[in-house]
Amino acid sequence: MAGTLKRLAILGSTGTIGQSTLSIVEQFPERYSVASLAAGRNVDEAFAQAVRWRPRLISMATEDLAGELAGRLRDAGVSGVDVAHGTEGTVACSTHAEADFVVSAIVGVAGLEATHAAILAGKPVGLANKECMVAAGEILTRAARERNVPILPIDSEHNAVHQCMRVGAHAEVKTIWLTASGGPFRQLPLEQFAGITPEQALKHPTWVMGRRITIDSATMLNKGLEIIEACRLFDVLPSQVRVTVHPQSTVHSLVEFVDGSILAQISVTDMRLPILYALAYPERPASTLTFDLAALRRLDFEQPDFERFPCLRLAYEAAEMGGAHAIALNAADEVAVEAFLERRIPFPGIARTIEAVLASTPEAHPATIPEVLAADQLARQMARQIVA
Ligand SMILES: NC(=O)c1ccc[n+]([C@@H]2O[C@H](COP(=O)([O-])OP(=O)(O)OC[C@H]3O[C@@H](n4cnc5c(N)ncnc54)[C@H](OP(=O)(O)O)[C@@H]3O)[C@@H](O)[C@H]2O)c1
Repeated sequence: MAGTLKRLAILGSTGTIGQSTLSIVEQFPERYSVASLAAGRNVDEAFAQAVRWRPRLISMATEDLAGELAGRLRDAGVSGVDVAHGTEGTVACSTHAEADFVVSAIVGVAGLEATHAAILAGKPVGLANKECMVAAGEILTRAARERNVPILPIDSEHNAVHQCMRVGAHAEVKTIWLTASGGPFRQLPLEQFAGITPEQALKHPTWVMGRRITIDSATMLNKGLEIIEACRLFDVLPSQVRVTVHPQSTVHSLVEFVDGSILAQISVTDMRLPILYALAYPERPASTLTFDLAALRRLDFEQPDFERFPCLRLAYEAAEMGGAHAIALNAADEVAVEAFLERRIPFPGIARTIEAVLASTPEAHPATIPEVLAADQLARQMARQIVA
């Protein structure tokens, strides 16, 4: 692909990852351009992006918002940009004939159908949307294998693992070590967890991210989702994926091979690096994202505390069960995080809600995307009842 322009479909273009992706397009105009954009509710940002990038197609979450955007584009004299909405709109973006590569960065299962459709259409995917890999990883990876479509992880940990894996064979991998910053409550005594406020939980020590993933980092459910994501992406057992708390967020993850060698990936704490890696793979373009090794003083690694962070245990349990339990883990968390942010439940209520939903989830292995979405809805209903 060297020398050819890659035209991108960016799902979740108005979010943190979407905007970082656009900053890479800005930096590498000879390599990347924008074919289509999918946003949610942020019409101001979507309008600014449509004016700046002139995508062929832009989608909003609802018909009303799409109408508002179309009106503003018309008033501004911007032509040639089609406006769509809803799931149909995101699917139209991800399967657009002019898109060569899809960045999947919508938050939650709202991005699932478009990501699946992109794979079915044979488009390589850069995957940030871990929730869709947790809910439907078996379906997505099977479809990708059958069509020989690469899924390149953008999540920094999985991106690091992908890089480390390039030096060994799959059968030589013993353990994948996912690093975790530990979040803002790494050292907070358990007795104080009940008093944690949304403001405190939204202050992540090392990364700037969307609201859901920031709260998920504080409960460490984010690491739990990543355990399941790693199992699906790298075809390993849950027992082969372990978590180590690394407060500096400098080592993005490690792979331990059967001979005892451990490979680690180190780089700046900046999501543009894994995004660029995914977009350019298998090339490595020169970038300005250099890491100052001379400034590195120490690297700490600690055991995670399963008592203060029960979401980790719940995630391992859901990973072992797979299917409906992985779907329920993600869906219950999404409902519980929203309730916590709206001060309807306390911080420990997030794990308690997930635990109760998992306990009532029957064992099942949805085989199609509609079945996954039905299981997701069922888990959400249960979670809403528990929260209420
Ligand atoms: N941020 C990170 O550093 C990071 C790292 C690793 C993985 N990830 C993963 O990447 C994904 C995005 O994270 P983020 O931090 O970028 O989140 P974010 O800032 O909250 O952005 C979420 C994006 O999804 C869009 N969206 C939400 N609901 C939608 C819907 N129904 N239809 C279409 N679009 C919708 C939002 O649109 P509006 O804003 O227009 O409503 C926004 O563009 C998540 O799965 C997260 O776990 C993020």
